[in-house]
Amino acid sequence: MKLVAFNGSPRGKEGNTHVMVEEFLKGAEKAGAETESIFLAEKELKHCQGCFGCWLKTPGKCVLKDDMEYLRAKYLKADLALFATPLYLANFSGLMKDFLDRLFLPFLDPHLKRDEPGTMAHPLRQVKLPKYVFLSSCGFAEQTQFKLLRLLFRELVESESEILAEIYRGEGGLLKVEAEGFQPILLNYKKLLRKAGKEVIKNGKLSEKTASKLEKPLIPYELFLEIGNKTFDEILTERAKQKG
Ligand SMILES: Cc1cc2nc3c(=O)[nH]c(=O)nc-3n(C[C@H](O)[C@H](O)[C@H](O)COP(=O)(O)O)c2cc1C
Repeated sequence: MKLVAFNGSPRGKEGNTHVMVEEFLKGAEKAGAETESIFLAEKELKHCQGCFGCWLKTPGKCVLKDDMEYLRAKYLKADLALFATPLYLANFSGLMKDFLDRLFLPFLDPHLKRDEPGTMAHPLRQVKLPKYVFLSSCGFAEQTQFKLLRLLFRELVESESEILAEIYRGEGGLLKVEAEGFQPILLNYKKLLRKAGKEVIKNGKLSEKTASKLEKPLIPYELFLEIGNKTFDEILTERAKQKG
């Protein structure tokens, strides 16, 4: 089982999202998966030009020359693709959006087919799509921040594929906190992520029990507000001092 993670955070390895991906992959590896982490921020990735060259000029192939062909090959070789993104304005990061725009169109044949009643779709070319894990971190505490992103991710999935797990984490800034007193909470959350990775590889899905534990706040809402504002105050005061 080959699992490839595509991380759309501009912060790459330094990001909160990577903390989640890393632990999930560790669990998946323990269960026997071969894993790879790809950081879109390290790749050359142009915007889709909207030219439809991949349909009409060089069918199945994008006309742009950058790292997208390499990324598309990685995606096609995967049994399981993990799409990870920080939440930006309730949505994918721009990097992830560019990747997704470029990823899918070449796989589709331009012809129109009838889909569910009253809707249409483009048929998939002769490619086998991987299954998916979707993952995201955001700054605010409440899990409802992800309501649009959940819909957007689900919209991507063709009937030929399926979602094995969705993992969303508010309070993303806490994932890299080094304070000693917070480590037990962090270790517990990381352990859950590893369990999730193991479950997905072993059972082909995330159990409801683990999914529900992963959705729980790391610390209470009021405490998060207090710590968050205190941290911003400290940083801003320090910066003001440095400026003189
Ligand atoms: C441009 C921008 C937009 C953001 N929009 C949201 C948002 O809508 N809701 C939220 O809770 N956090 C938002 N955040 C915070 C990030 O989602 C959060 O810090 C995340 O954990 C960053 O992950 P990373 O370190 O992997 O990049 C935003 C951050 C940036 C830079």
